[in-house]
Amino acid sequence: MTFHTSYTGSSSDEDDVSPREKIQKTEKGFTDFCVRNINQNAFGRREIEIAEQEMPGIMALRKRAADDKPLKNAKIVGCTHINAQTAVLIETLVELGAQVRWAACNIYSTQNEVAAALAHAGYPVFAWRGETEEDFWWCIDKCVAAENWQPNMILDDGGDATHLMLKKYNAMFKMIQGIVEESVTGVHRLYQLSKAGKLSVPAMNVNDSVTKTKFDNLYSCRESIIDSLKRSTDIMFGGKQVVICGYGEVGKGCCQALKGLGCIVYITEIDPICALQASMDGFRVMKLNEVIRNVDIVITATGNKNVVTREHMDKMKNGCVVCNMGHSNTEIDVNSLRTPDLTWEKVRSQVDHVIWPDGKRIILLAEGRLVNLSCSSIPSFVVSITAATQALALIELFNAPPGRYKSDVYLLPKKMDEYVASLHLPTFDAHLTELTDEQAKYMGLNKAGPFKPNYYRLVSSSVIKFCHESD
Ligand SMILES: NC(=O)c1ccc[n+]([C@@H]2O[C@H](COP(=O)([O-])OP(=O)(O)OC[C@H]3O[C@@H](n4cnc5c(N)ncnc54)[C@H](O)[C@@H]3O)[C@@H](O)[C@H]2O)c1
Repeated sequence: MTFHTSYTGSSSDEDDVSPREKIQKTEKGFTDFCVRNINQNAFGRREIEIAEQEMPGIMALRKRAADDKPLKNAKIVGCTHINAQTAVLIETLVELGAQVRWAACNIYSTQNEVAAALAHAGYPVFAWRGETEEDFWWCIDKCVAAENWQPNMILDDGGDATHLMLKKYNAMFKMIQGIVEESVTGVHRLYQLSKAGKLSVPAMNVNDSVTKTKFDNLYSCRESIIDSLKRSTDIMFGGKQVVICGYGEVGKGCCQALKGLGCIVYITEIDPICALQASMDGFRVMKLNEVIRNVDIVITATGNKNVVTREHMDKMKNGCVVCNMGHSNTEIDVNSLRTPDLTWEKVRSQVDHVIWPDGKRIILLAEGRLVNLSCSSIPSFVVSITAATQALALIELFNAPPGRYKSDVYLLPKKMDEYVASLHLPTFDAHLTELTDEQAKYMGLNKAGPFKPNYYRLVSSSVIKFCHESD
């Protein structure tokens, strides 16, 4: 019971005093952190221990590289979701020799008790659930600029730490050795910077690593969309009509889960290839306007902006649930709902009724922010895959000989993707077949990999977009 309360209860309700106004200290006298309540640390530590069990790959990497300390002298500014799983990544990086300072990349997704556990362990963490926008930038600033601290690596999810450092601390930014970026949005920003000639450091696009897109975006969202909707609305899925905007990796995961529970699923897409995939997977591809009056649930997963507008929401039926699975809160035009004619009523933490003058109400989740990280927990196993990929990307950029990477955006070498996957296979007692010498020669492959050429991947739309832009 207690576990549930911790996950779903918004800690922003629990305490009206801003953590920035509190003076907190660990028993060891450590004060270089800002979290909701340091006294929650023991509970957070247990959460981290549960996550460790379900994160075999990153734990294996921690063990294998602990003696070599490949991140010795790395000073990493981290800006990611702060939850039990990322805590396992953070502690792995430290175990591999890095110093870190960490902020949250989303104002609603921090697990306060986990942030407390990290601070208690002596890591400078600046994050709590329910930060204001101003708090959000203040926290990142505290991670970038600190006494006796010149960061040399950035681990970003959404590009905000990179953005702040570039804009406000440009001299410091130029000293960075590498950026590892996880999200579609952040990667897109990096490609834009690179194109504009403003990227002065090498960056690793982890988002388009096979081990990220094919596992995190797809499998993680497949499991967590149901969890988020259930926990926040207690909804029954069978027979419900759902429209999912965007049939990329995230959209595909959501569709599989909802279809599996008997929902009638519609897709909206701008890309004919994804639209064709959706059609051949048995979904109706429609314009949002064509289905908006009938659907019970609207989910955005595009990474785009204003996909669901006020005009759409005006047409929704009473009780329609509206939520976003994309990285940023731009997909649903939530601001357009803040007009005097509409009444907002808080139902639960992260659940609002928005009520029209005629009594019609829609159920808006997490105010249009990323719903699975705001309203549910995420499966640790897939995060282990992403976390191992991020750790390897940091190790690669930090240890690369001069000249291997220029000031540009790179994908992680294929062999490392394969290594990350192999770290996770023992969990399933999966037995790989080894190439014979004859087969290796016939296929023109090294027996140790890589087993596929670099172009053997479904490139995500952010990369395609960049390819077009650079034509
Ligand atoms: N919730 C999570 O846990 C989680 C996990 C991974 C990624 N994400 C985020 O989800 C978003 C989607 O990620 P992805 O990997 O599926 O990206 P993707 O590029 O594979 O898919 C996005 C799809 O949306 C389509 N699209 C763009 N604009 C549209 C519009 N106006 N209407 C309809 N379709 C449109 C694109 O054609 C594309 O097929 C990103 O913002 C990403 O950062 C969320």
